Amino acid sequence: MGLQSVTLLILGLVSYSYASCPICGGVDQELDEQLRTVRDLAVNWLADQQNVDGSWPDVNTQNAILGLQLADQSWLAGQGLGERLLTKERLEYELMQYLLPWRSKRRRPLKDLELGGRRLGQYILALNASCISADDFYGLNLNSLMVRLLKQFPEENFNNYFQYSFAILSLCSSETNILKKALVRLARGFDASRPCVSQFGLGNSGHSIDTLSMQVMAMVCARGQAIDKNVPNWDSILSTRVQCIMDDQNDDGSFGNAITTALAIQALTAANASLTSWDCVDAVEFLLTQHTEGDFGGVGSTAQIIPILGCNNFGSLQNAAITCPLHSTTVTATPILPPIQPGDNSTTFQVKVVVNNETETYSVTILTGENLYYGMIRLADVNSDFTFETSDSAFGQSVDAINGVADDADNSLYWTIHIGQEGTYAPKGIEGLYPSEGEVYLFILTDFS
Ligand SMILES: *[C@@H]1O[C@H](CO)[C@@H](O)[C@H](O)[C@H]1NC(C)=O
Ligand SMILES: *[C@@H]1O[C@H](CO)[C@@H](O)[C@H](O)[C@H]1NC(C)=O
Ligand SMILES: *[C@@H]1O[C@H](CO)[C@@H](O)[C@H](O)[C@H]1NC(C)=O
Ligand SMILES: *[C@@H]1O[C@H](CO)[C@@H](O)[C@H](O)[C@H]1NC(C)=O
Repeated sequence: MGLQSVTLLILGLVSYSYASCPICGGVDQELDEQLRTVRDLAVNWLADQQNVDGSWPDVNTQNAILGLQLADQSWLAGQGLGERLLTKERLEYELMQYLLPWRSKRRRPLKDLELGGRRLGQYILALNASCISADDFYGLNLNSLMVRLLKQFPEENFNNYFQYSFAILSLCSSETNILKKALVRLARGFDASRPCVSQFGLGNSGHSIDTLSMQVMAMVCARGQAIDKNVPNWDSILSTRVQCIMDDQNDDGSFGNAITTALAIQALTAANASLTSWDCVDAVEFLLTQHTEGDFGGVGSTAQIIPILGCNNFGSLQNAAITCPLHSTTVTATPILPPIQPGDNSTTFQVKVVVNNETETYSVTILTGENLYYGMIRLADVNSDFTFETSDSAFGQSVDAINGVADDADNSLYWTIHIGQEGTYAPKGIEGLYPSEGEVYLFILTDFS
């Protein structure tokens, strides 16, 4: 593969992760650029809220991971190996906290499971978004468990149609067969004669836009199954609900607060609602004013809002083309880079390699616009003191060793990348980082034990 095709491949992957945009039918290019800028801010802000133990605050680990992956399908893939393992293992660990006490019981009665349908739905979606199988989660089929939980609805921990819709979304996103009865219940909702009403009617016209939006996303996602199973009136109920959401748009473009507005845009986009029947641009513009440096009012609300910043919704996971690691270990040849000629635009930055408090500092010159990976190749070419090894996965090149010091899984030592100073974890892997003049990148062998 020549340099050109390697470059094309990388560019191709980057734009693919944003493939489901433009927003609002692409009528407004400037809006699309603003959306992208705010998405990047929100992804960075939400990623920064991760605690050192890998969790996100207020029981939001699963929500943050799902939101991040829907906003940027290569977010997890772009992390260093250590960060990626920490995130995935934390997700599994938290879910296990709910499942272990129940799993150890002989008959496993559902009433002893401390996990309602909504939360299990969040975990199933987050697992799929992280390329972890929910069909065989340490021997448990979580999708089957969800099918059983749906039959218990309504019960104490699982009793409204916002939660119910989330549960349906998790099953249809993992392409699990949903029983006709469960689909009929989704269509019927709280009051069969009034499809827009839920028990928490809060909006202008007496219904909850949050719940309606979730119902619409779930109905769009499960539509294929519902039509196959002849669930009565599916499409007419769906369009009634879509209409109720559109009718509730305010003059400023909003549908309520930032979360409500984001959920409404997700639902209307999922349902491909006609752009002449609601004001998509105003709604998105309103939403884009609702953050401070990417923070939409906390971890929980930002996690619910960011899928739409990547033009996704809670029902679009199966189309979102999440970047997953390959299980094979195909090796791509290191790209051969053209030499830098006088007159080329170049960028010079620093690489520091830190092992056991010992720091080596290198100056690196790249053609302006090349990524950190190319910088490492150029550095190794001109400086025999610097060596590195990467391995190839669909996650991109992942650093395995620098200057002969390798990741050491037995002792939980992994190479991590920091920008500027220790502690500032880079948001992407070496192929997603584009050094600018004078910047400092640190590679630190970090102890995760
Ligand atoms: C995620 O769900 C899709 C179906 O939407 C399925 O094809 C895929 O295998 C799932 N991923 C994992 C890791 O289970
Ligand atoms: C969405 O609706 C437009 C017309 O309103 C139509 O041209 C388009 O094919 C629809 N897309 C999908 C995916 O249904
Ligand atoms: C260098 O950058 C300037 C400004 O971005 C541009 O006009 C010029 O064509 C570039 N030169 C080369 C050799 O790429
Ligand atoms: C690194 O330096 C700190 C203090 O400067 C010291 O406490 C620590 O033991 C050193 N670690 C190693 C691995 O040498």
